[in-house]
Order: sequence, then C-alpha cells, then structure tokens
Amino acid sequence: MAETLTIVDNRTGATYEIPVTNNTIRATDLKQVRVADAPGLSTYDPGLVNTSSVKSAVTYIDGDAGILEYRGYPIEQLAEQCTYLEVAYLLLHGELPTQEQLTQWQTVITKHTFLPENITEMVRHYRYDAHPMAVLMSAVAGMHTFYPDGREYQDEETRWRQIHRLIAKMPTLAAFAYRKGHGLPLVYPRDDRNYVQNFLTMLFQVGEPHYEVDPRLERALEVLFILHADHEQNCSANAVRAVASSGNDPYTSVSAGIGALFGPLHGAANQAVMEGLNRIGSVANVPGYIAKVKAGEERLMGFGHRVYKNYDPRARIIKKAAEEVFEVTGVNPKLQIALELEKIALEDDYFVSRKLYPNVDFYSGLIYEALGFPPEMYTVLFAIPRTSGWLAQWQEQMTDPEQKIVRPKQIYTGHRGRDVVPLAERG
Ligand code: SDX
Repeated sequence: MAETLTIVDNRTGATYEIPVTNNTIRATDLKQVRVADAPGLSTYDPGLVNTSSVKSAVTYIDGDAGILEYRGYPIEQLAEQCTYLEVAYLLLHGELPTQEQLTQWQTVITKHTFLPENITEMVRHYRYDAHPMAVLMSAVAGMHTFYPDGREYQDEETRWRQIHRLIAKMPTLAAFAYRKGHGLPLVYPRDDRNYVQNFLTMLFQVGEPHYEVDPRLERALEVLFILHADHEQNCSANAVRAVASSGNDPYTSVSAGIGALFGPLHGAANQAVMEGLNRIGSVANVPGYIAKVKAGEERLMGFGHRVYKNYDPRARIIKKAAEEVFEVTGVNPKLQIALELEKIALEDDYFVSRKLYPNVDFYSGLIYEALGFPPEMYTVLFAIPRTSGWLAQWQEQMTDPEQKIVRPKQIYTGHRGRDVVPLAERG
C-alpha cells in the first residue's frame, strides 16, 4: 500500500495524491487543492490541537498509555535514579553523563549561579507583593542586556555559555524574588552545595550559620525538578520556539516561556489547585464542589490534559513523593480533600467520559506547601526545572534547518473595503 492519501475535491472533481510521512501530511501539500484562481487549501486548527509544528528528539509522550520518556529514558527510572542536573544534561546533550561529564557539568553550572548585581537590584525594587513569576519573566528578559552574546547562538561555545548561565541563575533569581517578597535579606549562592541544596539554602537560611538541608526534602525537590524538566510541545515550549524563531537569544525566548507557564491553564494550575482546595475547605464540601464543576461553574484545576487521556505518570510519582515528604513535615491536611476529589472524579462519568485524570499540577502544591512555600512560588518551582527543557527545545529550534519564523495564516472574518468617514461626520 502506498503511503499516500488520495483526495478527491468534489468542488472540481480533481484528484490529488498527498504523501503521508510520520503519520502526518504536510499542510503545504494542500495548497495545490484549489478552485479556479482562489488560494489553495490550508488547515484551521485552534490551539494546534492536531498539528505538529516541529520535529523533536527530546521528549516522547504516549498520552493513551501514560508514557513519558526524556531522550528515550522512562520518567520513572530517571526520577528514581538520577539528580536533576543529570537529567538537565540528558535533555540538552541527548545522553546521560558519565561521572566525569557530570562533575564538569556541575562545576560549570556552579560557576554561573551569581546574578549580575543590577538584576539583583531590579528584583529588590519590585513592589512588596509582586508575583515572583512576573519578577522572573522580566528579570530573565533583562539578562539579555548583560549577555548580548546570547544572539551569537550559531557559535556552539557561546550557545552553551548561555545555557549554563540560565540553568545556573534560575534558582538564585527565584530565591531572591522569594526573599524580597518576604522582607528577608538575600542569601547569596555558595559553591560548596549542590543545585537543590543551594536553592533551599538561599530560600530558607535566616540566622543559623550553617543551614542544614534535610536530605529527604532535598530528594523530594530533586524528583519534582526531574518531573517538571520537559514535556515536548506544551504551551510554554511552543512560546519559546515561536519567539526563538525570529532569531532570538535564549533569555528573550525563555522569558516568553515563563509568561506562557504563568497562565492558570498551564503551569500556574498548581497554584490554582491549592486555592481550590482552600476554597473547598473540607472533605464534606467536595461533593458540592464537584457539582459546580459539572455545572460548568468551576474548573477542577490539576485535572485534564491535552495529551494524557490516562493518568499523568508524573502525578503518580508526585503522589508517592508527597508521602515521603509528609513523613518529615507531617501530613498536609488538604491531602484528604485532594484524595476525595480524585476518588469521586475517577468514578464520575463527567470526568471519565472526558478522560480527565490528575495531571502533574494536582498533587505538587501539597508538597510545596508542606515544604514551606507560599502558593505564588509554586509555578516558579515549575519554571526552574523547565528551563532545561525550554533550552533543549530552543537549541533544537535554532539548529533545525527545516525551521523558519513562525507566522501562521488566519481566516479573516472582519469587514472589507470600507471608506473612512471624516471625524466630524461620524456617529
Ligand atoms: C500543564 O501540555 C502540557 O504538556 C502541559 C504540562 C507540561 O508539563 O508542560 O503537562 C503542564 O499545563 C498541565 C495542565 C495544567 N492545567 C490544569 O490543570 C487546568 C485544568 N485543566 C484544563 O483547563 C484542561 O484540561 C487543559 C487546559 C489542561 C487541557 O485543555 P484541552 O485539551 O484544550 O481540553 P478542553 O479545555 O477542550 O476540555 C475538553 C473537555 C471540555 O468539556 P466540553 O466542552 O467537551 O463539555 O473537558 C472539559 C472541558 O470543559 N475539561 C474540564 C477540565 N479540563 C477539561 N472540565 C472540568 N475540569 C477540568 N480540569
């Protein structure tokens, strides 16, 4: 059988043979399908629900089977056996590092953890209640002013220098935004602590000379960072690629990704989940809340996914990590509300028929709250690890000869050919 589609245009009787490759057809192959001198066919796909815009080798997802792999490695094995920086190396280099490669990677990342002091001053001067995601987005964009060489991405060494800088500086920037928001003095990064230890120290050290990080909490955050590192062409990765496609540096491109992630339908869902659990208040109120969701008055945040039509494998791992964190911090009382929501939703036809399962954001907030983070920091904790995924996508975008500036078509629904009425005669 030929790997083609035969299209018969019933408007003209003409027949077209369209090649099928990678289970897709090229939209531009439809341009030949036309009536007389009218423009050829194009596709209309709001939200790009059924459109592939890139080829990528970074992350593989099978939404029906609930499979997630980074560079071919199952997320369950990576979460169990690796550190976040190991996984960041894998996403960006395509292979897991040897011990020597990992040591070099850790060393170079550690060397870049300081922020330019002007960026630190910028963070200090936001309003006291500035949302840290807005601070992160603007500060990352501002980094371009210190590293204009970011636009020389064709040079491999220069490209990697920006990648090292961004991965290294995100925890520092996030911790500074948190400390500033809580009126606390900034704690600067140290060279004698690993990536997660350094982050937790910059966040939570106050007066004690040697802030000790509980290894169980460190491991839980390491796992959460691994689970959030990449997720193929999600909304924010698409934003990074679109901005990169006009020839942009990683700072400008990643700041767009932070903006996309800040939306409650995407990364900020984790904050919305906790706000929802707070509104529900008790297990007894869950049935009433579910009724509101089914009536369309509420959206069950942390449920549903464009790709997963099965349980998000990350949610399963986070649920297990929560139990380990609660052994240290005590069980978060909102866990019972979340478990009851999940129990009812997994039995109720409204959710089952729409294949709505818990996603990565449903349980993560329970851990973040138990670790002492305020809700406005939850999406920041998503953005830090996702930076390595965004950079892996940015790197692919900038080195893919097939890619070009993103400029979709539209279906025009407005007026045509009107004459301007002089102002004095209008209305
Ligand atoms: C992330 O893409 C990624 O990979 C993202 C991510 C990543 O790692 O990068 O996985 C991270 O963003 C996870 C998703 C976090 N967002 C939320 O938890 C917000 C709540 N979820 C939804 O808003 C929704 O499920 C989306 C945005 C996640 C997916 O939206 P889709 O694929 O566009 O689906 P849809 O909105 O068209 O919904 C289909 C139906 C609709 O019902 P009908 O109109 O057919 O009657 O399902 C309903 C929706 O109303 N629905 C929900 C629902 N999600 C979908 N109803 C109630 N609660 C929900 N959460």
